[in-house]
Parts: sequence; structure tokens; C-alpha cells
Amino acid sequence: MGPGEGRLDVARVRGLFPGLSDGLVHAEGPAGALLPEAVVLAVAQAMRVPVAERGGVFPASARAEGLLASARTAVADLVGGVSSGVVLGPDSSRLTWTLARALARTWRPGDEVVVSRLDHDANVRPWVELAAGAGAVVHWAEVDIETGELPDWQYDQLLGPRTRLVAVTAASSAIGTRPDVAAIARRAHAAGALVFVDGTHAAAHDLLDVRTLGADFLAVAADMWCGPHVAAVVADPALLAELEPERLAPVPDRVPDRFESGGHAFELLAGVSAAVEHLAALDDLATGTRRERLRASMAAVAAYEHGLFGWLDQALRAMRHVQVIGSAPRTTPTLSFTVEGMRPRQVAHELSRRGICAWDGDLYARELFDALGANEEGGAVQLGLMHYNTAEEVGYLIDAVAALRPR
Ligand SMILES: Cc1ncc(COP(=O)(O)O)c(C=O)c1O
Repeated sequence: MGPGEGRLDVARVRGLFPGLSDGLVHAEGPAGALLPEAVVLAVAQAMRVPVAERGGVFPASARAEGLLASARTAVADLVGGVSSGVVLGPDSSRLTWTLARALARTWRPGDEVVVSRLDHDANVRPWVELAAGAGAVVHWAEVDIETGELPDWQYDQLLGPRTRLVAVTAASSAIGTRPDVAAIARRAHAAGALVFVDGTHAAAHDLLDVRTLGADFLAVAADMWCGPHVAAVVADPALLAELEPERLAPVPDRVPDRFESGGHAFELLAGVSAAVEHLAALDDLATGTRRERLRASMAAVAAYEHGLFGWLDQALRAMRHVQVIGSAPRTTPTLSFTVEGMRPRQVAHELSRRGICAWDGDLYARELFDALGANEEGGAVQLGLMHYNTAEEVGYLIDAVAALRPR
């Protein structure tokens, strides 16, 4: 088998994505994945038929109710949660903020929260700002700047009897590192703290399980796994029932609705369900419940992406003018790199000239890039593979990076 070959029929998979007809190499997955035609059609179909607000006795209202229920069930299947614990919203940052505000209402001066320098700003800023408002103390879990790892042993020193919350990512969308979230959560729970896990990037590459991770709250966003930009936070409904979010009068006072800000974009919810179906069908031989098909399909995705990524990663590390950030043993198929003598923006332009889509900058990992001293240099260039990328594309990427020279 060559690099990236597995149970994933990539030729079939590529045929599902109309966006690939632009002929570009799409390595910008962590900034938003391409959409399969089935997702586009599901959204269009939900817009073609009448859909109105929930709560009416007429078909358009029942349709809205159905779209919402299906999306909650789909997300629950994706992360091993229950649909009554799936809070839906427009994006992961907003939902994290909403949940954080509800949690922070219970904090007292002298309480403590632990955030990490590996995380995307979306899972850092809300906690830091709200801790300041509540008089709570923020502790930082540090990244090993050589390896890009987030060692879990440090949490022994960071946690204490006043720790109320630990916020940590399941995977960095900047450098791909996958911390041992389960080990961190075990320590946090032993100290009596709740754990908020940012699964936004990780969910595209591995089958997450809220319980196995030990996540009290798990945030995901469908645009990372080939859906529209709709996000979810998944939690135990009993835990959600204990919290008092800020709620505007028209929002029903029941779980999970009371964490949602108003009406939903029902047509996009149709796309969320279709995106989970897309993932579940990636291994076309998989059978059983949707969760079982997701398990088989995501295993095929992980094996396929791992093969391709290993090749890309090794090839870039062997280039003398390239520095790949970090060397963590467990990563998603995402890396960031810099090129000697070139600003990341210039590299991204050069790659773009060669038909390669790659994001650059601080990648919203400001804490990490500050710790690495990379922000003054313009951050880094990110390459993220998805299940629709091919070995040919990776070969082309490697050649393109090898040819980069300062002008
Ligand atoms: C790891 C991670 N967390 C959070 C976010 C924020 O997601 P959203 O754009 O849905 O707010 C992103 C977005 O790229 C991300 O990659």
C-alpha cells in the first residue's frame, strides 16, 4: 500500500465534493473543510420546502422541529452523547462564551480556572475574561516549546481544591498536537473541577467520545467536518439543568434550548445532519447503527490521513530551509511551518501562486505563538489534510515547499 491508502476509496470520496472542481490543492481544512454535494443539497432542500418557527401545529413548524431533532441526534451520534444534551449555535466561539458565562456565574473570588497555551483563543479568552470579572485566579498549562506537547503531569501542580474549571483542547488546529485529555480530565475530576474540551479541530480526524475523553462539555463545529458553520456543545443534560444561563424571554426554559439564543438556522441544521451522514458513509462497507458506521469510517479516515500526513511531515522536516513547529507523537494531520528568510504571508502567497490553499498567521493560537516567539515573525504557515486530499497532492505540496526560496 502507498502512503495514505486504507479502507477509504479516495477517488469515490473526491467525487462527492463539488468544490474540488476548482483544481486547487485544498490544505486549508482546519480553517474550514469543503462541503460534499449531499450537504449542499440537504440545505437547499430544507430551503425549498416551507419551514417556519417551532411550536405551531402546521407542517412547516413540524418540519423545523424535525430538522432540529435530527441535528441534535446526529451530533450526539458523532460524539457519543445524548441528543437532549446537545446545545446548538452559530459557532464554537459563541457557544463556548455562552457556556462559560453560565459557569462563571457560580464562581467566587479566589476560585481558580486552568487554561492552556495550546488552545485556540476561543477556549482561552472567555475563561480569562470571566475569571477576571469573578475575581477568580487563572492558571496556565504550558506547552513544551521543543515538542509542542501539553504534558498532563503539570496539572498536578495547577489543580487545587478551589479549581472550578479546566479548559483544554482535544487537538490544536495550529500544530495538530493531541494532548492526553482523558488523563487531564481524570486529574481535574479528582480535584472536583469541571472539564471543558474544545473538540472543534479533533472531531474532523477521529471519532470523539465525550465519556472516554472525560469531557463535561465538548465543543464541536460542523464546518470542520464538511458541514455548514453550525456548532454544538455536548454535555450531560443533568449538568446543563444545574446551570443558569442568561436567557432572553422568548427562549424556552428547558434543556438544552435555554442555552440557545433564539431561532435556529433550520436549513443549516439539515446540513449538519447530512455532514454526519457523510462522515458515517466514508467507509462504504460499514454497517450497523450510525455510531458504528462512524466508528468504522473515522478509523478509515484516521488511517488514511495518518499515512498521507506521515509522508508530508517527514519530507518537510528533512528540508533545511523549513522548520516544522513541534514534534508531538500524537497529532492530527495538521502542521505549521516557517521558511528561513521568508515571512509566513509571503510563503502562503507563493503556495497560492502554485494553486495551494494554505492559511497563515497566528492561527488564533496567540498564546502558543507568543510562547514560541513566532508572532513577531508573522506566525506560521499551516497545512492541514482532510480525507479528500490525495497522495498526488501531498507530493505536489512537498515539491512546492522544497522549491520555496527567499526572493
Ligand atoms: C480548535 C478550534 N477551536 C475553536 C475554533 C473556533 O470555531 P468557530 O469559528 O466555530 O468559532 C476553531 C476554528 O477554527 C478551532 O480550530
